[in-house]
Amino acid sequence: MDQITESFKIPPAFNNSPGPRGLELLRIGMKFQNDALNAQTGLHTKFGDFVVCPWPNRFSVFTFSPSAIRHVLKDNQNNYIKGREYNEMRPILGEGLLTSEGELWRRQRRTMAKEFHQPRLDIYKDTIVEEAQALVRDWQDKSTLDVTGGLTDFTFKVAGRIFFGNNLAEDSEGTKTALDIETHRANERMRRAVNFPRSFPTPENIKGQRAVKHLQSVVDHVLAKGIAEDNILARLSSYRDSEGEAMKPSLIRDEVMTLLLAGHETTSTGLMWTLYLLAKNPKWQSEIIADESGQVARACFLEALRIFPPIPVIARLTKEPDTLDGHHIPANTSIVLSQWVTHRDERFWPKPLEFRPERFLDCQLKYNQDGTFFPFALGARACIGEAMAMLEAEIALVTLLKEYSFSLAGGFEPKPNHHVTLRSGNGMLLDIKKRL
Ligand code: HEM
Repeated sequence: MDQITESFKIPPAFNNSPGPRGLELLRIGMKFQNDALNAQTGLHTKFGDFVVCPWPNRFSVFTFSPSAIRHVLKDNQNNYIKGREYNEMRPILGEGLLTSEGELWRRQRRTMAKEFHQPRLDIYKDTIVEEAQALVRDWQDKSTLDVTGGLTDFTFKVAGRIFFGNNLAEDSEGTKTALDIETHRANERMRRAVNFPRSFPTPENIKGQRAVKHLQSVVDHVLAKGIAEDNILARLSSYRDSEGEAMKPSLIRDEVMTLLLAGHETTSTGLMWTLYLLAKNPKWQSEIIADESGQVARACFLEALRIFPPIPVIARLTKEPDTLDGHHIPANTSIVLSQWVTHRDERFWPKPLEFRPERFLDCQLKYNQDGTFFPFALGARACIGEAMAMLEAEIALVTLLKEYSFSLAGGFEPKPNHHVTLRSGNGMLLDIKKRL
């Protein structure tokens, strides 16, 4: 009992901080298990921009204000590392960009950044166009369909080809399934208050470990047979730093797995919510087709990322004590930033639930800076694949909409569900009609 009382104890710095306590904390904790998105909205509505939750196994600080978001992600970013949540991703991502810290991360970021600059994007474009056309063909006989599977296939094939060349083609399904299994395991472990160690042979752990071994063997196999084509995996394996040192094979594996995981489901989820919002707002389908520049498609995608951010929360851990919006924060505090809440805050986004792509038509650059909109995060650790995701979205939307119109299948309403990315718990059922 003493231990339980001890674990609910609030550090003196948070004695008078707003947030749920006692039974209300337990009730909200349970809500987080089943409906984390609305639980966050509820915290914000009731307690405001700064909320302290002393959970039994840790305490979390939710900060919803743009100034705090900017502070954590940009202005004082060196004081914030990736929190415990990211440890759950380490079995597949190892020391890749998403999970590494410090000098290793800095070095890797410099190396990997070259892969996502404009000259490379121009080369990736052909692959994206080909896969978007393949998706159009796959959907040609459909009248009603769940678009989730096709969109995930599209982004997975694009990522597979750009990162691995044709090497993934023979085991594309196996790789996708293994990634899904391990992401599911990580997600469940993040949600639960208490977990068995990963090495303990529960059915979930056994399945997860098999999936991780499978993923590792896919990359090792490609590296061992030698890579004839030009792709990211090939370039990383021939990379030499200024001292002539090659990258360790295990690090190459971590990097390509990171790209594959971070780079496909986020984009397909964003596209799925965009098609949903376009189905509800057909006027914007015509606007996309009429626009030669691709800007309207991009604005529609950004507006969808605002209402349904594929990564709906970002967590960080303080290294040293800090001050956030006037609140003292001790070292080793878990800070949660919520795109889901801040993107829907009517102080910054009038009529926040309305789909209004015009918000992004005139201010394409402003969006990523002020802390009211951060689907790709901000600062030095912002998404490295942002430009690639925007290019994929533009090409996919323009290609699909020139061929088809979309409307909501009768009576269908999606159920947003936070599962690492923001999925829909019941898929995304749309009616699809060939344009005449
Ligand atoms: C709509 C699509 C995407 C969204 C919404 C998105 C979102 C994000 C966010 C929020 C982060 C920061 C995570 C954190 O710091 O906790 C991130 C990081 C990252 N993303 Fe993306 N992403 C998308 C597409 C992509 C693509 C296409 C790629 C790869 C080609 C990619 C690769 C990465 C990597 C490697 C990182 C880690 C960067 C670092 O820490 O240096 N993402 N992404």
